[in-house]
Amino acid sequence: MKAVIVRTLFSTTTVYIYIKSAIATTDIRAQSHIMSYLVFGSTGYIGSRLVALLKDDGKSVHCAKSRIENYVDTANELDEIKPAYVLHAAGLTGRPNIDWCEVNKIQTVQVNVIASQNLADMCYQRGIHMTNYATGCIYDYVEGTEHACGGNPFTEEDEPNYKGSFYSETKIYAEKIISQFPNVLTLRVRMPISADLHPRSFVTKIAQYEKLINYPNSVSVLTELLPISLDMTSKKLTGLYNFTNPGTVSHNEVMDLYREFIDPTKVTTNFSIEEQAKVIKSGRCNNHLDVSKLQKLYPEIPEVHVALRRAFEKMSNDGLAVKREE
Ligand SMILES: NC(=O)c1ccc[n+]([C@@H]2O[C@H](COP(=O)([O-])OP(=O)(O)OC[C@H]3O[C@@H](n4cnc5c(N)ncnc54)[C@H](OP(=O)(O)O)[C@@H]3O)[C@@H](O)[C@H]2O)c1
Repeated sequence: MKAVIVRTLFSTTTVYIYIKSAIATTDIRAQSHIMSYLVFGSTGYIGSRLVALLKDDGKSVHCAKSRIENYVDTANELDEIKPAYVLHAAGLTGRPNIDWCEVNKIQTVQVNVIASQNLADMCYQRGIHMTNYATGCIYDYVEGTEHACGGNPFTEEDEPNYKGSFYSETKIYAEKIISQFPNVLTLRVRMPISADLHPRSFVTKIAQYEKLINYPNSVSVLTELLPISLDMTSKKLTGLYNFTNPGTVSHNEVMDLYREFIDPTKVTTNFSIEEQAKVIKSGRCNNHLDVSKLQKLYPEIPEVHVALRRAFEKMSNDGLAVKREE
């Protein structure tokens, strides 16, 4: 008989389990089962990238089949897979954009708030670590205060101040409760950018418009940040993190890179937030998030301009530049 010491996730009590060496093979299978990942939102912009990264790294990955608002299905799936880690990247983000949430409020609440909170609780009750891919679109610059544009960035301690869109409002309600659970790591992703021209990348989104506002913003360059999120998960870190690259980048700076690497003929002009409000149903926020908490753990995270240039270089090398007939 071999004594194995197991420390449970939420208890300081040490539990001694006696296992016969004869079942060593089962041990190994059980171990790989224990370390598996269950990804909610695996078909989405963020979730599909997480699945690809985990598979590339040889991890045991399961793509969740249940709809998270269906409590029984979700609980059964957790009990069947028994993952060590849940990655929660499921949510209603709206199509073609978050304006959809303004006219589908009940569905948005059911998924983004109630079901997301339930998922955190179900994981808590089962001792499963959950990484919650949340949003940093819960703050907006306030002129005349310390958080004016160009002023102090928003830290994790600052109270969210942006409810200009129903999507953001639901994300605030969800985060407030979910972040109470001691098994949850919440990462506030913002205006994600990938090294491709995926329709949900911030670059692709703004490149489709002729008129843009021009404000400095925190953004998450996914190529740099998603691997870091998985490292945080594997270490079972918990708590709340602003999850963007350090620094800010303006809409015009992003479009300058777009012209340099993708399409030199692309023309955009600027308009004011008031003019923008006339063509969208819900508001859009602008903010600078303080990432010093994240940088203490990962000081090598590249400053946003460095990360963006790398992403654009990759897109150009991958042949994504617009080719025009001479
Ligand atoms: N993209 C952004 O700009 C951004 C920025 C910051 C934070 N986030 C957050 O990051 C998370 C993922 O965003 P994303 O951009 O990857 O979104 P996405 O591309 O719209 O993908 C959403 C994913 O969630 C799944 N889903 C939706 N409703 C579900 C439900 N009721 N039950 C189970 N799965 C459901 C979708 O599956 P189906 O297609 O099968 O419905 C899809 O796989 C969201 O919580 C979002 O709020 C996104």
